[in-house]
Amino acid sequence: MRDNPRPVQRLGARNLARSLAPLAALALVAPGPAGAAAEPIVLKFSHVVAVDTPKGQAAELFRRRAAELTQGRVRVDVYPNSTLFKDREEIEALQLGRVQMLAPSLSKFGPLGVTEFEIFDLPYLFDGYDALRRVTQGPVGRALLDKLESKGIVGLAYWDNGFKVFSANRPLRTPEDFRGLRVRVQPSRVLEAQMRALGAVPQVLAFSDVTAALRAGIVDGAENPVSNLWTQRMHEVQRHVTLTEHGYLGYAVIVNRPFWEALPRDVRAALERALAEATAYANRIAREKNEQDLARLRASRTAEVDVPTAAERLALKRALAPVHAEVESRLGGTLLHDVYRAAGYAADAPPARPGPAEGRASTP
Ligand code: LMR
Repeated sequence: MRDNPRPVQRLGARNLARSLAPLAALALVAPGPAGAAAEPIVLKFSHVVAVDTPKGQAAELFRRRAAELTQGRVRVDVYPNSTLFKDREEIEALQLGRVQMLAPSLSKFGPLGVTEFEIFDLPYLFDGYDALRRVTQGPVGRALLDKLESKGIVGLAYWDNGFKVFSANRPLRTPEDFRGLRVRVQPSRVLEAQMRALGAVPQVLAFSDVTAALRAGIVDGAENPVSNLWTQRMHEVQRHVTLTEHGYLGYAVIVNRPFWEALPRDVRAALERALAEATAYANRIAREKNEQDLARLRASRTAEVDVPTAAERLALKRALAPVHAEVESRLGGTLLHDVYRAAGYAADAPPARPGPAEGRASTP
């Protein structure tokens, strides 16, 4: 049930997208017959999570502000919860111009051939949100987004979800607890290496299939920020949620390049403004929503919430530290050290050693 065989060949799709999408975009912005009201430009924004999540809410704000700031010249249609496309198909649909905007998690660009984004999957990479921002909002973050251009995609912004927790039918507090478990991961080799370092078996599945796969026992566990776990009701099919906060999950907001470049300049500027507002909003509410959903999870008395002790957390960090060196060559060049430096760590010191503060999506 692998979600994404790799490497994925997309040459046909890309060429087709390049040739068709600008025409489609131009048709949309072309004025109608004299006197007729111009048809709005329709921008389809597809995503895989629930509306009541950081990404879902930010997409809604973008939809509203895009209509206001363009005075109705653009209509954003948001398709949440994989209603239009699942993980595996959505990036290809964007390249083909069947949707114009997406916000896939940073773990989903490997199958497209842009494996560098998998750096964000490294366990215990970020020592909190400040370190993360120094990467995403600096030259390293920009250079990563620019790598998408050759794929017919423009990378516009980073949106947060938060730090991940593990769920299973047992507490996952120490490396030994993971032995032999089949754990769902996103299509990222770094996440696969992370699970193997813990003695678990990684299973790539589309997000929309995870709750059903947990219910059916196809996989034993999963990793998610609490907002995703709660809104997909995974707590109803898992007996334990352990607040490991071992890694980050965030998004790149991306658009079909020919569509974006064919937009009238003033329309594009208005959409950029709407997106800047949505980005600030996403990054403000992400932490809050994860905390709220953790409180709901605790109150629901469904899955039990386990908090690792400092010693258990340290044992997990130690077990996962070798993953950094293991995947360094896959990430290419000096990227790992560039990210360490940008995050504020000594370039040659893996941050996965005991640190003063850890990224926290939630306060246990
Ligand atoms: C996942 O597949 O677990 C996440 O990428 C879903 C999402 O978009 O937050």
